Amino acid sequence: MADKFYITTPLYYVNASPHIGHSYTTIAADCLARYMRNLLGKENVWFLTGTDEHGQKIQRQAEAEGLTAQEFVDRMVLQFKNLWQRLDISYDDFIRTTERRHTEFVQRALEIIYKKGDIYEGKYEGWYCTPCETFWPMSKDVAYLCPDCKRPLEKISETNYFFRLSKYQDWLIQYINKHPDFIRPSSRYEEVLRFLELNKLNDLCISRPKGRLSWGIPIPFAKGHVTYVWFDALINYISAVGSFDSQNNYHSEWWPADLQLIGKDILRQHAIYWPIMLKALDIPAPKTIFAHGWWLMGESKMSKSKGNVVSPVEMTDRFGVDAFRYFILRDIPFGSDGNFSEESFMKRLNADLANDLGNLVYRTLTMVEKYFKNIIPPQPNRIKNNQAKMIISKTEELSKTLKISLSITRDYNFSLALEDIWEVINMANKYIEDTKPWNLVKENKTDELKEFIFVLIDTIRKITEFIYPFIPQTAGLIKEQIGQEKINKGKPLFPRIKTT
Ligand code: ME8
Ligand code: MG
Repeated sequence: MADKFYITTPLYYVNASPHIGHSYTTIAADCLARYMRNLLGKENVWFLTGTDEHGQKIQRQAEAEGLTAQEFVDRMVLQFKNLWQRLDISYDDFIRTTERRHTEFVQRALEIIYKKGDIYEGKYEGWYCTPCETFWPMSKDVAYLCPDCKRPLEKISETNYFFRLSKYQDWLIQYINKHPDFIRPSSRYEEVLRFLELNKLNDLCISRPKGRLSWGIPIPFAKGHVTYVWFDALINYISAVGSFDSQNNYHSEWWPADLQLIGKDILRQHAIYWPIMLKALDIPAPKTIFAHGWWLMGESKMSKSKGNVVSPVEMTDRFGVDAFRYFILRDIPFGSDGNFSEESFMKRLNADLANDLGNLVYRTLTMVEKYFKNIIPPQPNRIKNNQAKMIISKTEELSKTLKISLSITRDYNFSLALEDIWEVINMANKYIEDTKPWNLVKENKTDELKEFIFVLIDTIRKITEFIYPFIPQTAGLIKEQIGQEKINKGKPLFPRIKTT
């Protein structure tokens, strides 16, 4: 498809309620999708999100709540869908790994790889971390605690099916070397490459005996086994947008994905397992896997299993959806870790949204109301004021600067893009303070006053287009307040929050 952009988020586990971390990836993807559609004018943007519903964590949680796994996931998925609706997430498709379009596709993919000889039967003996759903081979370094999450390991011995990751290690190293944009940011690229160069990949155990875990996709050629949840879940990115023909060739108008956003916690699965799975299926790798940083609480990662989470529902109830979207995209550069604190949230809300943007709009509309009876002055033939000229040219530059900040070369720097937009907002506010419009009124300088108001309104209109991908509701509200010829002033966009 011409000029398409296919963007994905991870499929979140439905074992617990979504928190700020999940909102982060999804809001970032939404912002980029909106930016591509509305500011870059791309006609073919496809934004996929969804939920990962199989596996032991989910089976255990369902049991703990006295529900069948199916009842449990059907209930939990609503929390994700409702949250995305609340946060104005403009996804095009939401895939659940329990849907038939996905489970059948996974079975087909397993069969194709099995026939090819890249899946084989073997025996597994060793340690297993249930919360991480990860095997750890017997070794002295692994002393009963999971090297990743530090929780106790379980000892297991069983027949399983293995996927030949090892066969493709050299291919993957070469592939990564030849595709500098495959993994971003570059620190993650280096991390994966170094890992592959220093470690020999083990084949991946992709089955679970039904006796231990029944909540999974049955493996067609292995009656007593279901599919390992990661092998199942990763396939969603292709099962949602295409299908295999009778010759086992995959067809999709969207694949390969242009950008797959993930957190750095699941980099290895996406940068190692995933391209190798695709290679085994003769399907090209995605163009870019981008692994962003973590929201921390104090020193540690905000996580469902640790329970140190902040609820996006509560935050948006108290402060509004756009304040939340703004903060999350503005506060830390995409790719870095950041600490979540309510104090810095409220600071940003008061400073950037209430004071800078909110005030600019409110003051400007108040002047149109007071001096021109709600009628917007027409565009003058020539702008005379120097400050106004500078604002106009800075605003014009924004489409270029945003295109750079929101590109892969700058690692999708939402924060920088917002900083650039706010520079114009602050110039406009300073213009008001420097001009002292009440003096123009006193001195009867009507033409100057008209030019002044026109430039402010025009600047706000243009800024509205640029803030739209980040804070779409606010952009909508401003558009309602500023019509073609008349204004329709409303309440301030962002009331100040009392901080004590
Ligand atoms: O890993 N900071 O699901 P998951 C930033 N089902 N982002 C965070 C975060 C934090 N503290 N916590 C979570 C899974 N995230 C698998 C994925 S994909 C085929 C299967 C975000 O529910 C971030 O995007 O644990 C992270 O990668 C993802 O949620 C993990 O979600
Ligand atoms: Mg996780």
